Amino acid sequence: MADTLHTLGYASPAGQILIEPEKLQERVAELGRQIDADYAGKEPVLVCLLKGGVLFLTDLMRAMRIPHSIDFMAVSSYGIGARESTGVVRIIMDLERDIRDKHVLIVEDIIDSGRTLSYICAALQSRQPASLKICALLNKYERREIDVALDYVGFDIPNEYVFGYGLDVDELYRNLPFIGVLRT
Ligand code: IMP
Ligand code: MG
Repeated sequence: MADTLHTLGYASPAGQILIEPEKLQERVAELGRQIDADYAGKEPVLVCLLKGGVLFLTDLMRAMRIPHSIDFMAVSSYGIGARESTGVVRIIMDLERDIRDKHVLIVEDIIDSGRTLSYICAALQSRQPASLKICALLNKYERREIDVALDYVGFDIPNEYVFGYGLDVDELYRNLPFIGVLRT
């Protein structure tokens, strides 16, 4: 753990930095290069899960050099004030375009119990994409309840509530350029 949060001048909850902005950007650049190589000659569709995946998506896109399209899906698994998935996943907003015969890469902020991603994967797989892979920035591996094959992972992290870089605390602090850990 590095500095306390206030040293960067951002309004944020009590906590500490888990992943510094530079480390995030370096890792996202690496993932972009790896995805470019793996999807060379293809035009993948990056499917971003709203809202947490947004900052990761936009940085990952800029790290990629191959042509690709993007689409969005919103699902609910946590309610406001909740810190754990309810287990009931609902699609609140569906993709704009058909993914049949497309190479789909799901871009997600964090995988925790695995419930959200396993539900989404099953839903997308039934639409018959040419391929379906997952890119998750953060992996809270200790919390897994449902096994989900992750194709790309930014960082394995401990079982603590994290925020920043797309991840919220009751809808706030998604703007922070680092990943912080709540400490009260
Ligand atoms: P899962 O269904 O338990 O894997 O939960 C996945 C979703 O829960 C993620 O897409 C996040 O939106 C949210 N989530 C899980 N852990 C955290 C966290 O530590 N901070 C913020 N959101 C989280
Ligand atoms: Mg999410």
